[in-house]
Amino acid sequence: MQINTIAANNIDGTVMESHQNSLSHDGENSRGAHMIPVISCRHLSKRYTQGPQQVDVLLDVNLDVYPGECIAVVGSSGSGKTTLLNMLGGLDMPTGGHIEVAGCDLASMNDRARASLRNRYLGFVYQFHHLLGEFSALENVAMPLLIGGSSTKAASAKAAELLGQVGLSHRLTHKPSELSGGERQRVAIARALVSSPRCVLMDEPTGNLDHRTAQGIHELMRSLNQQLDTSFVVVTHDERFAATLDRVLVLSNGCLQAANA
Ligand SMILES: Nc1ncnc2c1ncn2[C@@H]1O[C@H](COP(=O)(O)OP(=O)(O)OP(=O)(O)O)[C@@H](O)[C@H]1O
Ligand SMILES: [Mg+2]
Repeated sequence: MQINTIAANNIDGTVMESHQNSLSHDGENSRGAHMIPVISCRHLSKRYTQGPQQVDVLLDVNLDVYPGECIAVVGSSGSGKTTLLNMLGGLDMPTGGHIEVAGCDLASMNDRARASLRNRYLGFVYQFHHLLGEFSALENVAMPLLIGGSSTKAASAKAAELLGQVGLSHRLTHKPSELSGGERQRVAIARALVSSPRCVLMDEPTGNLDHRTAQGIHELMRSLNQQLDTSFVVVTHDERFAATLDRVLVLSNGCLQAANA
């Protein structure tokens, strides 16, 4: 598959440099220079129109996700958590407001450039795993690397390594229909992490998993966060896990605010 590369060398450089420095929540690193958020949104709104009915799901969402930050997003069913992740990752366009990923304005890019930006910077774990049914677990996990230009051999080796880390070394050649629900979810998690993205957007990633397996996934996230400064935005109903992250934000009435505000 041919993928357009985006002209973002200066942005790349700035983001990579900023990983070297520790951060504070106002976005300043230890040297006092401003960091570029991996994802930033301002006054984000989303209205769904269904026949005569209009549903205003997001009204005014503002968020900066800095390199290395782990953020939990909580909120009741139907509050708009999945809608928000889809907007932040450029999978769907907002009705109003502004989103930047690694300093690039999503609204000003065409679909191919947005897809390329996603491939370079973001990983997704969807609420419903969205694996490709005709491909094996290994091929599903290798896919983002192949799209990014890796050789088949390198992509397969890395995919096998990630599948091992989520406890699926014995299921590499199984297709999604031949896996359990929790196994499919773990394949989806491996696929989101395989290209070492700068930020991973996860929609209830461990909702279908038993406690022990879920803990293994949380540890994998922590180690990626520590080793590579990967940021995570995780929609979760697991309050104990949410409390271990840097910030817990609540989505309610179309707005996002700190859990303790
Ligand atoms: N394509 C659509 N068209 C119309 N309404 C939609 C569409 N997608 C979502 N909605 C509505 O928007 C609201 C928010 O949906 P969303 O999936 O973002 O909620 P959620 O917080 O992720 O919920 P859950 O915790 O159940 O996954 C819901 O009321 C839903 O019915
Ligand atoms: Mg949802």
